Amino acid sequence: MAMSEKREVRGVVVRTGRREGYRIEIGGGLLADLGRVARESLADHTRRVALISNRRVFGLYGARAVGSLRAAGFDVTHWLMGDGERYKSLRTAGGALRFLSECRLERGDAVVALGGGVVGDLAGFAAAVYLRGVSFVQVPTTLLAQIDSSVGGKTGVNTPEGKNLVGAFHHPRAVVVDTECLRTLPRRELTAGWCEAIKQGAAGDRKLFTRTRRFLGAGGRGAATIDGGAEREEELARLIAAQCAFKAGIVAGDEREEVGRTDARSRRILNFGHTIGHALEAVTHYRRFRHGEAVGYGMIAAAEISFRLGLLEQTELEYLREAVRLAGSLPRASDLDAKTISLALRNDKKSVGGRIRWVLLESLGRARVVDGRDVSERAVRTSIRAALDSQ
Ligand SMILES: NC(=O)c1ccc[n+]([C@@H]2O[C@H](COP(=O)([O-])OP(=O)(O)OC[C@H]3O[C@@H](n4cnc5c(N)ncnc54)[C@H](O)[C@@H]3O)[C@@H](O)[C@H]2O)c1
Ligand SMILES: [Zn+2]
Repeated sequence: MAMSEKREVRGVVVRTGRREGYRIEIGGGLLADLGRVARESLADHTRRVALISNRRVFGLYGARAVGSLRAAGFDVTHWLMGDGERYKSLRTAGGALRFLSECRLERGDAVVALGGGVVGDLAGFAAAVYLRGVSFVQVPTTLLAQIDSSVGGKTGVNTPEGKNLVGAFHHPRAVVVDTECLRTLPRRELTAGWCEAIKQGAAGDRKLFTRTRRFLGAGGRGAATIDGGAEREEELARLIAAQCAFKAGIVAGDEREEVGRTDARSRRILNFGHTIGHALEAVTHYRRFRHGEAVGYGMIAAAEISFRLGLLEQTELEYLREAVRLAGSLPRASDLDAKTISLALRNDKKSVGGRIRWVLLESLGRARVVDGRDVSERAVRTSIRAALDSQ
């Protein structure tokens, strides 16, 4: 879209404990406005911007991002990291920090992250620790990053011992969401993102769930696709804004994920579907599923448990199953063993004092945290089995 065309932009304000919070701007073609948004949200004296991305995303959107930043008067240098989860490491973070030093980034300058959650988490972490913290701006280009990972201030890297074990809370100064970037996103990445979108609605906001499901239903099977004309694109932008607003609301109420909190508005509820999702990823050695796809199965399993404990009505369970189906086809899971998965649950890092805290559902839109002791092994296994065979 040309700069001069009128663009409809939606804004979501994220409130944080410090300062005045920040804005997420959402719209089709918004990448062309990155320079303006960065100018408005960074300090007046900011001159230099260090952009971090990867080859694939930079090849698609780098020129537009850099062009817009330069037009707004920034001096821009870029650095490309490897593509994929395995590059979200301390080693890559070391490379990023070296880059920031080499381009002589100063305290008043800024980092821009252009890419999916991997780039966002790593660049955000580098920005959090370089000179004890410099400003950064997120430009999330995957659906998952647009609705989830770019909101909430968590940054970090994986270590050989586990995922996201090293990190920092560091909020961006602004988030620029260009929904047109999703056009080049591979189908599986869209499906994974839609699963997280379903999760947010199911765990905490029934209207959001229904709206997400309706959007997916209107696209037909596999459709998670976003094509379908101007009206559908408009609804997509509105839906992404609603998803961001939801996550921002949860985060504002529980910025640092207090360990003791288990209420229906705690950050913990965002872990819905993740206990079994993580176990599925682990038993398949992180090769078979995209994270969001594993969460798709994990949500169904958690809902099956909820149903078996008498917390959730069967019709609700079916509604959730249908929503996951609409998100797109998931890799096969029926060959996996429920017992192996239930044993892998013990390694979940979100357990407290060695016990699992299940995020279950009372209804779509209302989660309840249940202590592991109150859920029988048998209920867990039958539920996992049912979920694996569900798609
Ligand atoms: N910080 C948080 O709160 C938070 C929350 C959820 C997930 N995460 C993290 O996010 C990461 C996953 O993020 P992700 O799902 O975005 O994966 P990703 O960053 O690996 O991106 C997926 C793939 O899509 C490519 N890609 C990105 N944008 C594209 C585009 N517009 N067109 C074509 N290809 C594109 C990427 O190069 C990559 O190959 C995980 O490391 C996870 O831990 C963080
Ligand atoms: Zn997730």
